Amino acid sequence: MRISVIHGPNLNLLGVREPEVYGTVTLAEIDRRLGDLAAELGVEVDCCQYNSEGEIIDAIQRAGVQADGIVINPAGYTHTSVAIHDALKAVCIPAIEVHLSNIQGREEWRHRSVTAAACRGVIAGLGARSYLLALRALVEEAGA
Ligand code: DQA
Repeated sequence: MRISVIHGPNLNLLGVREPEVYGTVTLAEIDRRLGDLAAELGVEVDCCQYNSEGEIIDAIQRAGVQADGIVINPAGYTHTSVAIHDALKAVCIPAIEVHLSNIQGREEWRHRSVTAAACRGVIAGLGARSYLLALRALVEEAGA
């Protein structure tokens, strides 16, 4: 089983970006933890990060033919991107949306996710653990 992990814009800056909101764990460290968990679960994980919407859509479409599930943090595009929503709907594999912060507890304009309705579920507010929980859930979902 292969899971594609797609990180959206500005997540390459984790560790230095608003640490009071997003914590101090870097993206490389999150990817390392995902790799360790994937090995434990006996699956393959493929992590990528893009700042632009088009590249995220290309990654979703690639995952649709190469992977069995998607873990995605659309970051700022969560709140705006009909195109990422449509790409997630277009591929026939399950996706779980992840957020490091609890978007429901932040500014009102972050409460709405345009992309969540195209996903099997959402895990938010647990920092780097949100990704690990999503990977575990997705392996169960995709294997079911
Ligand atoms: C985020 C939450 C978004 O509102 C924000 O734009 C991000 C990160 C999170 O992981 O908490 O870039 O997706």
